Amino acid sequence: MNLELLQRIDRIHPYPAKFTIDLALKYILEYTKEKDVIYDPFMGAGTTLLASSMTNRCAFGTDINYIGVLIAKFKLLKLSSNEILNLTKFINEFEKNYNNKIKEMELFFYPSINHWFCDEAIMVLSLIKNMINTLADEKEKIFCKLVTSSIINVISNQDSDTRYAAIKKPNLTIENIANIFIKKFKTTLKLFIEFNKENRLDLLNQAMLLNSANCKNILEKNSVDLILTSPPYINTYDYYLYHKHRMYWLDYDVKYSMENEIGSRREYSSLKKDSSKFNSDLFKIFSNCNNILKNNAHIIIIIGDGRVCGKTYDAKENIIQALHPLNWTLVDYSYSFLDQTSRSFQQSYRTKGKKEHILIFQKRA
Ligand SMILES: C[S@@+](CC[C@H](N)C(=O)[O-])C[C@H]1O[C@@H](n2cnc3c(N)ncnc32)[C@H](O)[C@@H]1O
Repeated sequence: MNLELLQRIDRIHPYPAKFTIDLALKYILEYTKEKDVIYDPFMGAGTTLLASSMTNRCAFGTDINYIGVLIAKFKLLKLSSNEILNLTKFINEFEKNYNNKIKEMELFFYPSINHWFCDEAIMVLSLIKNMINTLADEKEKIFCKLVTSSIINVISNQDSDTRYAAIKKPNLTIENIANIFIKKFKTTLKLFIEFNKENRLDLLNQAMLLNSANCKNILEKNSVDLILTSPPYINTYDYYLYHKHRMYWLDYDVKYSMENEIGSRREYSSLKKDSSKFNSDLFKIFSNCNNILKNNAHIIIIIGDGRVCGKTYDAKENIIQALHPLNWTLVDYSYSFLDQTSRSFQQSYRTKGKKEHILIFQKRA
């Protein structure tokens, strides 16, 4: 396994608070053997599934965020030489003709688009969107959507991936926006051609868009050997919001992601809900997970503290209490401080003393 290549594939698209591929590999190798079944109910950008596919473990992942599912699927793609050829033709055609085609393009529209994108960005993205819609092959579509999604926030007025405020970005001409897309497409394709040679299990259809409170519908009772997951950190992010424009451009249902997301800032900062709601949401999901777990299976939960209504939410204590009725035994525990370790967190969230916990439970017979 080429670890450096794997890390580059794993970081291909920004995703808030994802864990590293090294961490996923470490726990998968320690707690499972080949052919075991692993499940991640908060799949995000698919790190657990990527590590599973590389180590010959079967894995399933579910998430309610369309962009998370898109990124996960990208990492699980296996492309035929014909599909690689078609993708090469796609980008060559774009590079050769974008200047002419853009003039006859019908522009995509949604309310507030002009606040978030300059005219040049709307023109280039409308052309890309149109070209993707002509593709018949699902895997080619996933590849092209992934590349498009990865440049959308860069060419929009959105300040950063985890700051939803509009700022004016300089130098956005049609030519340099098109070049940002061409460059990203070509480097991603080059990287992917290398990755495509790696030996790995095909898990593409096992990365699914689903509220994990319904995981019983897709997984059999007593079938899972390990859960490796990281739920949202309460009141820290709005995954649906940071990816909102990506979802609009790719025709995904923002409302579904928003309404099914647990732990968001929308719920705990805007709607001012109490943290007990988060604990009951977690319980609902993990009690469904309990059904599909084998006896003696392990459950590894990585979760950070938060702040709700001016008080610290101690994630370790809350998880232990919320999941107490499941009778899981805590068999290992470690933590680190968020302000020292977490590069993905904005300064304002890195409150001194906030911890990121790794809780390892075991389901007893
Ligand atoms: C900390 S992130 C997981 C990151 C992931 N470990 C990775 O490496 O990319 C938490 C995820 O939980 C997802 N989520 C929130 N509510 C959910 C629900 N009801 N069902 C499934 N996923 C949910 C969010 O969309 C987000 O992707």
